[in-house]
Amino acid sequence: MSRQISGFKPTGRLQLGNYLGAIAPAVQAQYRTDMSIFIADLHAMTVDHDPAQLASKTREVATLLLAAGVDPKHCTFFIQSQVPEHAELHYLLECATSYGEAHRMIQFKEKAATQQQVRLSLLTYPVMMAADILLHDIDEVPVGEDQAQHLELARDVAIRFNSRYGQTFVVPKPVLPAFAARLMDLSDPSAKMGKTNVSSTGVLFLLDPPEVLRRKIMRATTDAGREVRYDPVAQPGVANLLNLMASCVNDSPQVLAGLFSSYAELKEAVADVVIATLRPIQQRYAELAADPAGVAAVLAEGAQRARNRGSDTVRRARAALGLLPV
Ligand code: TYM
Repeated sequence: MSRQISGFKPTGRLQLGNYLGAIAPAVQAQYRTDMSIFIADLHAMTVDHDPAQLASKTREVATLLLAAGVDPKHCTFFIQSQVPEHAELHYLLECATSYGEAHRMIQFKEKAATQQQVRLSLLTYPVMMAADILLHDIDEVPVGEDQAQHLELARDVAIRFNSRYGQTFVVPKPVLPAFAARLMDLSDPSAKMGKTNVSSTGVLFLLDPPEVLRRKIMRATTDAGREVRYDPVAQPGVANLLNLMASCVNDSPQVLAGLFSSYAELKEAVADVVIATLRPIQQRYAELAADPAGVAAVLAEGAQRARNRGSDTVRRARAALGLLPV
């Protein structure tokens, strides 16, 4: 059985790109793989952050993941900082990663450009991500396209560590979703839909009320021309809507394109599908949010399971590096 892991950073409100690109694939995979799903709260501290916001977003993301179908009976579900082995392995891997490798990361350059003071942890972000993955002996990581370069680094570090210090880590590989590997912002189809995009008019948040979702979709930027065709280069706005719908209904964007004779008709249908997809998640979220102690108990149990597994990997890595046993 393959081992998979999926992580979510509590830096903002979860959006449809997170859902279609990573949450839905992880929820499906939990029934056929050995799946771990976690909230990457340590990663949320790599840019300027507000402690109260971090705590409340961590709770919100955890609750929303459960509402979206994460089933703690079928996966290991936990908060990264509650499994201290992540931080310990992070340090050990820093000793097997070069400054140049970390500095080359596109996300580092993009994020660093937005910060007044660049935190050192922003540079070592992908090393922490490698630790998240290698700690749990993961072989497949379902991620959106934006994380592909980080995954490459995790592979490089694992391969180098194994060849220099002896076989210690499983070498992971990325798995990209079929149609929503990179869902784009509805008002700017050249930018990724993201939790922290400056304007939220093109971002569909999982907890947006139905009328807000519909309004954002009806105002989505489409392209010159009127015919509904799946052409990501010439018609990126329409292609993004078709990808989004294809991913929700599990059909192909080319087939869906043939069903609509105008952009307005397509948008109405996309709005219907998105609202229908998110309605049960929103209802379940309201129920779960009323029981924060229940959510915390689920997370505590998950953290214990993750620690049991992770402590073994840390022991292997320490021994390989020449550290004396604890
Ligand atoms: P984060 O929180 O930015 O995103 C969580 C997941 O959602 C995917 N995603 C998207 N997929 C398609 N289209 C989009 N517009 C879109 N936006 C986000 C991301 O690819 C990701 O799979 N560094 C990670 C968190 C992390 C992690 C890990 C993930 C930390 N350690 C180990 C996997 C394994 C991040 O910032 O994800």
